[in-house]
Amino acid sequence: MSRANSKQPKKAAAAKSVSRKTGKGTLAERADKFRCYQQSVQEPEHEVEFFDQVYRKLFRRTPYSLREDFCGTFSICCNWVESHPKRTAVGVDLCSETLQWGREHNLTRCTNEQAGRIRLLEQDVRVQNRPQVDILSAQNFSFWIFKTRQELVEYFRIARANLNEQGMMVMDMMGGGDCYKEGVTDKRRIRKGKKGFRYHWEQASFNPVTSEASFYITFKFNDQSKLKRAFEYHWRFWTIPEVRELLREAGFTRSLVYWEEEDEDGEDTGVWSAAEKAPSHPSWIAYIVALK
Ligand SMILES: C[S@@+](CC[C@H](N)C(=O)[O-])C[C@H]1O[C@@H](n2cnc3c(N)ncnc32)[C@H](O)[C@@H]1O
Repeated sequence: MSRANSKQPKKAAAAKSVSRKTGKGTLAERADKFRCYQQSVQEPEHEVEFFDQVYRKLFRRTPYSLREDFCGTFSICCNWVESHPKRTAVGVDLCSETLQWGREHNLTRCTNEQAGRIRLLEQDVRVQNRPQVDILSAQNFSFWIFKTRQELVEYFRIARANLNEQGMMVMDMMGGGDCYKEGVTDKRRIRKGKKGFRYHWEQASFNPVTSEASFYITFKFNDQSKLKRAFEYHWRFWTIPEVRELLREAGFTRSLVYWEEEDEDGEDTGVWSAAEKAPSHPSWIAYIVALK
């Protein structure tokens, strides 16, 4: 259990007294967990820019169609159709509540014309659909839900079948020594001022025998109230070489690993390039791009 958790009972009690005083409920009670998640975790503009740049470099043409597997509130789909008048997107997720939140909050920020270029499928990602797409993305480590080689290869085979001949799949991966520690919570302030809140990424457990790990997201507000473990993930901690081997087994012809370049002070530059060798940082994020 992390140090943050051991402080929880005292702060929760304090938050309740705020609630009684104002009569409006705590900030946690009034918060929207999906909005907090989007503000803390997602960078759809960056994803769209990255997909576009990599695809153009590999295929020397503009990509038009995107499938966002594990799309959640499908913010990448929305940014994708906004980025070009000919672009179409398909969002795939099992969870109707999450998709519905996206319809009410993300789709409504698109014009009707843009929204008309987004198709949402409430289904398992392991379903073949038509038409095939130029880019299939699976972000925020979502494919780690598949815990065996058999399950992951099956998913990759179907993902490959959902791609055009000139198609690429993009996934993100995390790793580094710090990721194997238990009871570690990474804390960040998301916004300053009254509407500010904190994001806690808790690495609760890691089992070295199975490589299974549990992670939780908690949001903490200025009145000390919390949306405790608002999101939870129970994943297999896959490594880059395992994923590349399984992609090949599933029929992908080639895979590339994109690593963020650093400047001379060792700071991130925001520029990602293909690499076969990278520094062993205690905590890193990389993209895997697989070509059909
Ligand atoms: C970690 S969240 C990622 C959401 C979003 N892609 C993002 O980047 O923030 C994982 C999502 O995958 C969905 N999911 C889990 N298993 C699935 C499956 N087999 N098929 C479709 N969706 C699935 C969950 O409902 C959830 O919305």
